Amino acid sequence: MSMTAKATEQDIVLEARDVHRSFQLLRNRVHVLRGVDLAVGRGEAVSIMGASGAGKSTLLHVLGGLDRPTRGAVRIEEHDLFGMSAARRTEFRSRSIGFVFQAYHLLPELDVLENVLLPAMRHMNWVGQAGRYRAKAADLLEQVGLKERAAHRPMELSGGEQQRVALARALMNDPQIVLADEPTGNLDSETGEMILNHLFALTRDRGHTLILVTHNEAVAERCDRTLHMLDGRIGEAGALPAP
Ligand SMILES: Nc1ncnc2c1ncn2[C@@H]1O[C@H](COP(=O)(O)OP(=O)(O)OP(=O)(O)O)[C@@H](O)[C@H]1O
Ligand SMILES: [Mg+2]
Repeated sequence: MSMTAKATEQDIVLEARDVHRSFQLLRNRVHVLRGVDLAVGRGEAVSIMGASGAGKSTLLHVLGGLDRPTRGAVRIEEHDLFGMSAARRTEFRSRSIGFVFQAYHLLPELDVLENVLLPAMRHMNWVGQAGRYRAKAADLLEQVGLKERAAHRPMELSGGEQQRVALARALMNDPQIVLADEPTGNLDSETGEMILNHLFALTRDRGHTLILVTHNEAVAERCDRTLHMLDGRIGEAGALPAP
């Protein structure tokens, strides 16, 4: 029996089919993803769990078009993510997908507002638009409670504050899909809880799709479904044999 993870809703926004990814390390070939099938519905929040090294981050990068699978396909709405040119994929990714990483990945030389603005830079075609985008970035910062910190550098912020900036940045282009890789992994549980509240409020509660990698059972439980990575494949929570 194949362990296909199907969306509960008819309206599938993201679908991976037989996705493989292997890495060549010197003489060894490491086969990390070994035929991942999954489908995620519009507005769903799905968590992905699995042992360290199971391939969760690798999968997230492929789903978001940051890394190319060795084999298989990813479809986002009606678009074949790896069927398009690299330039088109970058453009598409920037408009449709928001990433939140465990390690924030903020640019230290930019202030907080500029970090949030980054994803929109490529879409600013004329100078007159800058004001509108800045207002939007400021609004997002307000929503994550950091309005007063707009002119600060990331270094001057706590971990939880930096992750809130990263969250605002991920949402700058109103992406249909947000991919979050252990967004609370580096935070204490109280701060993590706050980040998750913001994350859910800004994604699922507004009809956006969320795919969240986590090691934390309680975090996974806040999602609609939990998928498990094992042996390079994905299985639904109940579909795996008891450990
Ligand atoms: N660019 C790469 N080159 C070589 N090997 C890689 C690369 N990226 C990932 N791997 C390997 O793929 C495997 C899965 O890595 P991945 O980061 O996806 O795991 P993970 O499930 O996210 O683990 P963790 O929970 O620790 O974050 C690991 O064995 C890793 O060494
Ligand atoms: Mg990882």
